[in-house]
Amino acid sequence: MIEIFIRPHSEEKHDIAAWFRSYSEPLHSDPYPFYNYLLEREPLYYITDRNQWLASRYEDVNRILKSPVFVREYRNAVPPPPPSQELPKQDPPPAPSVWKPVNDLLGNWMLFRDAPDHTRLRGQVSHAFTPRTMERLKPKIQAVADHLAKQLTEETKPDLIASYAFPLPVIVIAEMLGVPPEDRELFKGWSHTFARILEGGDRPPEFAQQAAQAAVEITDYFRLLIAEHRKSPREDMISDLLAAQGQGGTLTEQELIATCVLLLVAGHETTVNLIGNAVLTLLSFPGQLARLIAKPELIRPAVDEVLRYEGPVQMTGRLASVDYEIGGQTIKRGQYVSVMLGAANRDPSQFQQANRFDIGRTSNRHLAFASGPHFCLGAPLARMEGEIALGKLVEQFPGMSLADAKPDWRPNMLFRGLNTMHVEL
Ligand code: HEM
Repeated sequence: MIEIFIRPHSEEKHDIAAWFRSYSEPLHSDPYPFYNYLLEREPLYYITDRNQWLASRYEDVNRILKSPVFVREYRNAVPPPPPSQELPKQDPPPAPSVWKPVNDLLGNWMLFRDAPDHTRLRGQVSHAFTPRTMERLKPKIQAVADHLAKQLTEETKPDLIASYAFPLPVIVIAEMLGVPPEDRELFKGWSHTFARILEGGDRPPEFAQQAAQAAVEITDYFRLLIAEHRKSPREDMISDLLAAQGQGGTLTEQELIATCVLLLVAGHETTVNLIGNAVLTLLSFPGQLARLIAKPELIRPAVDEVLRYEGPVQMTGRLASVDYEIGGQTIKRGQYVSVMLGAANRDPSQFQQANRFDIGRTSNRHLAFASGPHFCLGAPLARMEGEIALGKLVEQFPGMSLADAKPDWRPNMLFRGLNTMHVEL
């Protein structure tokens, strides 16, 4: 039976299952009425034809993310049958899937692994994101923000995404990793393709080919770069990872490449949206912007409020490894749960006046960086970049205004961010 979702504030009818198969334009622009509907009426919604759940309440989302019962790897949710029950080997073996190069990368991302591999992969790079390392990076990030802000003044109605929000985190992560920043345009294309891979949903058949090509190209790119770093080590993360590998470290070559790709994609698809969403939201609530201009020390809670209110990552997912009772429902072993971070961050049972943007909000325990073992490794970096980037704009251009008639949201339900945003300085 197809269930009908009647969108509050409008007469439009939506079918939740159809929505999840193919996201529609109104939902890209404004997913919040849909989230409110889920929170009020269907906090744990089962999509029959996909054998998949949507979890939207803060308490449920937080519980799922923290529980060891919910895993990432299908073989840990539903262990493979013992050898005697295995299917006979095919002769000749099946042709490799067009998705193989993509799966070779994603399968080695810590994001998609469970302990012990997750712990091992995360342990190899976690030192690069400690608050102490971040403090040392601060002057560099500030210098990048100053330089980009100066360049903005040379443009009329600059596109703040292309000229500021995008280059800042990309220059920073490229430098941290040891990737030439002038290869930016290459990464942009690859990274956007990965963002579409991660989003799932309906895609044209030719997309598989495009995804595979991006995976092959980025893998070759890093293989070469790693070889160069092996010959002449520098002061960057690739050299650190190679040094750790040489001292009995446990990363294979494929894991090393996959980790570099993950960090590059994470650095491209998230913080740019934090900066862009922050500017758009503040310009849409002039009272809150005035408050920040008057009290620059509110920058930290302001960034956290943007993360809650317009989070760059709207959802993630987990698999149940046993039957699990939650919210009066049973999620069965092997079933996939889409964990709606963006909805949980608007849950009125966790946040007072949840749909209100308030930069002075206290005890803002949002889930924009998720929670549990996969809590965002780059959170300290993202927060610092967000604070520096936004702080600089507010200080230098307090009279900034939007030049576009309406926001140009990217058609992606996983990553929430703008394609372009023209401003008058
Ligand atoms: C505002 C910006 C960012 C947001 C909102 C964000 C959000 C998230 C979320 C929600 C997860 C967890 C996904 C899950 O549990 O399934 C995650 C994981 C991760 N993030 Fe971020 N992220 C941001 C920036 C960054 C940056 C700048 C980096 C590094 C360059 C980064 C690196 C990672 C990594 C490596 C993981 C995987 C952690 C693990 O599996 O243990 N993130 N991020």
